[in-house]
Amino acid sequence: MDIEWTGLRAAATEAAARAYAPYSRLRVGAAGLTGDGRVVTGCNVENASYGLGLCAECGLVSALHATTPTPATAPAAGDVPVLVAVAVVAGDGEPLVPCGRCRQLLLEAGGPELLVGTDTGPVTLKELLPSAFGAADVASRREG
Ligand code: THU
Ligand code: ZN
Repeated sequence: MDIEWTGLRAAATEAAARAYAPYSRLRVGAAGLTGDGRVVTGCNVENASYGLGLCAECGLVSALHATTPTPATAPAAGDVPVLVAVAVVAGDGEPLVPCGRCRQLLLEAGGPELLVGTDTGPVTLKELLPSAFGAADVASRREG
């Protein structure tokens, strides 16, 4: 699948313009390309109770689920991931690497081969989050 990074980054930049970030004053936008060619976006939303702030990628993943029929149960290892590429940018339109929590969130939505745009080009999520904990660990290690 051909990934149009310029368009994806433009969608992320548009989302960043709608961020609510009065505390950090760092606007962030994220845009994800789905396997069926759709683009979903999110922006960061902060809160007076600082710890409650939501990253842009959280909004993106929520939008993804809100617009995609997904199984009600956690995906099994090997299920086809939904996201294939993600661009995350600051308000200036330049790439920003996802924080650790968002890398974990993106893993569940796109799998280890998900491409993440960086200022040196696309990298796989498994490069950003090696030895990741995932759904297979829950399935294989749970009791009962
Ligand atoms: N932020 C994101 O939206 N995504 C990330 O992955 C990194 C951080 C936001 C959270 C907060 O609103 C602001 O950037 C400063 O940390
Ligand atoms: Zn984050």
